[in-house]
Amino acid sequence: MPIAGAGLEGVVATTSSICYIDGEAGVLSYNGYNIHTLAENATFEEVIYLLWHGKLPTAPQLIELKLSLASERAIPSEVAAFLKSVPQGSPMDVLRTAVSMLSLYDPLARDNSIAASTKKASKLMSQVSTLVTSFDRLRKGQEPVQGDPSLSYAANFLYTLSGKKPNALMERVFDIALILHADHELNASTFAARVTAATLSDIHSAVTSAIGALKGPLHGGANEDVIRMLLATGSPDDAVEKVRSDLANKVKIPGFGHRVYRVLDPRAVHLRKLSEELGRGTGHLDLYEKSARVEEVIKREKDLNANVDFYSASTYYSLGIPVDLFTPIFAVSRMSGWTAHILEQYRNNRLIRPRADYTGEPDGQPWIPIESRA
Ligand SMILES: CC(C)(COP(=O)(O)OP(=O)(O)OC[C@H]1O[C@@H](n2cnc3c(N)ncnc32)[C@H](O)[C@@H]1OP(=O)(O)O)[C@@H](O)C(=O)NCCC(=O)NCCS
Repeated sequence: MPIAGAGLEGVVATTSSICYIDGEAGVLSYNGYNIHTLAENATFEEVIYLLWHGKLPTAPQLIELKLSLASERAIPSEVAAFLKSVPQGSPMDVLRTAVSMLSLYDPLARDNSIAASTKKASKLMSQVSTLVTSFDRLRKGQEPVQGDPSLSYAANFLYTLSGKKPNALMERVFDIALILHADHELNASTFAARVTAATLSDIHSAVTSAIGALKGPLHGGANEDVIRMLLATGSPDDAVEKVRSDLANKVKIPGFGHRVYRVLDPRAVHLRKLSEELGRGTGHLDLYEKSARVEEVIKREKDLNANVDFYSASTYYSLGIPVDLFTPIFAVSRMSGWTAHILEQYRNNRLIRPRADYTGEPDGQPWIPIESRA
């Protein structure tokens, strides 16, 4: 049996019509729409529809989607009580637990038909935003803010987080960030979601698996590490010195490198621009400038490119988002991609069950009585 490369590198594990990546050319598209086209023209709601249905919505379809997203934001009182009971919890742990808990109160929990799973996907998309913003307010001793159905998904998230309606620039920047993070083919968390879905387990379980995978610092957790690195250093020169010393000590620099891209991550192009634009408007340009210096040095000295997490860090910071919500926000956006992939898996399912190349002791070891064991 041929053995796949470590970490399944280069292995094509499924067919999918949702997301296309050309890592050599730096191309990313959702259902054929290039990420640059989407970042420049789409709203996050249009992207959600695109990922779920494989085509852009018509005007009535978009209205219907927005209405259903706005009407499903409420979370069960038991889940709200849970959020209140763990003020010191790490937001990703709280989110993972709360998403799992939602299934206990979902009337469709035991119905795993495609129709019910599609409804549950839509509800999860709405509720994930409420979970993240409510938890942040509750841990600060504030009451959760009721969503405003007239706002976009992005604006409503920022509104329910801070209690203030965002200005047009903040809304657009956050909307684009959500679009850029929405899907990325068989990344680790989406693969985890599909593996769980392929056992014909329910959509809440599949999404819970995904959140657990996203949390790790090699995946979605990297954006929090990036901002901590930037904030822990003073001038751009200090940041460069820190990064050089980390590289010399073989420490991985968060926000750099990618399993698939051999050139600049196309999402980083937009996030770099947004980080600068927003930094200029909010007095955090120093973070952008530090990031740009670090990027230039790592590219020149190691030929490593920035990935999606590098400039999303300074962008979110400039939006006033607490650092430990950066990865949960990634989850909010990626909920659209995860659920699209889970539904695609259900539609054409086969159990995902690879093999391992066994490297342990040969079969047939003699039994050793416990008193004789070393
Ligand atoms: C994303 C990541 C996990 C991909 O891992 P991978 O495909 O297994 O790549 P490898 O770890 O094998 O790296 C290949 C080479 O590039 C180097 N490299 C990769 N990312 C690096 C980084 N962020 N900093 C320093 N060196 C890095 C490795 O040291 C290795 O060099 P070597 O061949 O001399 O040993 C890895 O680049 C990483 O840890 N990045 C930082 C975390 C991050 O930003 N994650 C978010 C990804 S979107």
